[in-house]
Amino acid sequence: MTEVDVAAFPDGFLWGAATAAYQIEGAVTEGGRGPSIWDTFSHTPGRVLAGDTGDVADDHYHRWPEDLDLLQELGVDAYRFSIAWPRIQPSGSGPVNHAGLDHYQRLVEGLLERDITPVVTLYHWDLPQALEDAGGWPHRDTAERFAEYASIVGEVLGDRIGVWGTLNEPWCSAFLGYASGVHAPGRTDRAAALAAAHHLNLGHGLASQALRSVLPAGAQLTIALNLHQIRPASDAEEDLAAAHQVDDVGNGIFLGPLFDGAYPPTLLERLRPVTDWAFVRDGDEARCHAPVDVLGVNYYTPTLVRRRRGSGDGRVSHAHGESRATPFVGCEDVEFLQPPGDTTTMGWAIDATGLEDLLLAVHHRVPDVPVLITENGAAFDDVVEDGRVRDTVRIDYLADHLAAVGRAIERGVDVRGYLLWSLLDNFEWSFGYARRFGLVHVDYDTQTRTPKDSAWWYRDLIARYRQR
Ligand code: FCB
Repeated sequence: MTEVDVAAFPDGFLWGAATAAYQIEGAVTEGGRGPSIWDTFSHTPGRVLAGDTGDVADDHYHRWPEDLDLLQELGVDAYRFSIAWPRIQPSGSGPVNHAGLDHYQRLVEGLLERDITPVVTLYHWDLPQALEDAGGWPHRDTAERFAEYASIVGEVLGDRIGVWGTLNEPWCSAFLGYASGVHAPGRTDRAAALAAAHHLNLGHGLASQALRSVLPAGAQLTIALNLHQIRPASDAEEDLAAAHQVDDVGNGIFLGPLFDGAYPPTLLERLRPVTDWAFVRDGDEARCHAPVDVLGVNYYTPTLVRRRRGSGDGRVSHAHGESRATPFVGCEDVEFLQPPGDTTTMGWAIDATGLEDLLLAVHHRVPDVPVLITENGAAFDDVVEDGRVRDTVRIDYLADHLAAVGRAIERGVDVRGYLLWSLLDNFEWSFGYARRFGLVHVDYDTQTRTPKDSAWWYRDLIARYRQR
């Protein structure tokens, strides 16, 4: 097994774990919560494996004190969680639901009492259903509503939050939600997906402005992007061009507006047959240009591509068996290949060099912006035997990826922390409960939590770092 060199990690490095509201909370009709697109989607037959829903999930809404105790036992510095918009504004706009705000105030107090820094995500995919009914992310008003919701939460939680995140993986919201349709709301409309991407960028910009006006000076803002570490299958010009295409619609579509205040010209040009971009109004690119204090990076696996050989319409087979349009709009002439090597139960290739390369690429792209790893982790078929989960493959995955982070730091990347996905086994979106990412095993019949061997390994690593 790889030995992680803790000396590579700087003082003040944040060791933590991450979760998201819909994946763990349950209690979907309690405390005045309104329905979200994931309630609707998961209750639609055929959308989620085995018909699983987030109705109960980990019952974290009730069991959060026990879960915060687990975090404390691990010795983490930080906990990344998301706030459910439909608990704060049940229909996405209008009056505040105080029971919802109170819940998160208690959670934040509970973290601070345990000396754990709260890292908040304001939007981890649970759009209030009423906003989807009004048009969803393809509709401009959703961005304005998001900024309003952000300022409500900002005013209440104010200076008690270590890092404020606006969006989690807007690429997934836009392209899995509106192009391939494997995520809520399950639409398959390529032009709508591009409009959604723009309004997510606008939502980030407007929410950042709203947050900066209500938060104390020095508040740290972030956005968590699932940046694609793209590898062309060869050096042939056509494969390099394919990689560039995927980079535009996988990365540049968010990095461009965020850091340069402009969409990549090659993206705008290539996608003209799909959209006239009329939803990008005068002044919008400046509104989206809200650079973050620290960039959140989520990484699981690299993306291997080449120019499509022969015919094909870019359809990809989805885990549930049926074939789906590619979420990479405009990349129908690109083939996505399975990278070599072992895989996790998601079917994702295990390749820690992808994380090192990605961190270096980000550093090259925005040298002055520090990075926070907001997600990294792996799903395996864990079983409890004699009260123990011997998940050595997860320990190997984590050790390899943390060693890669250490190497990137030594090569000059300013990495501020590592938030492991996930604290608990949870509702893994369209895979339901059939994929386990937790450091802690959850028995969904009894809600028993069993820390896996990886949890104790992570605790020992953090302790080793503290004594270095
Ligand atoms: C990311 C999501 C997170 C989790 C992991 C496995 O795309 O942000 O909620 O499902 O994948």
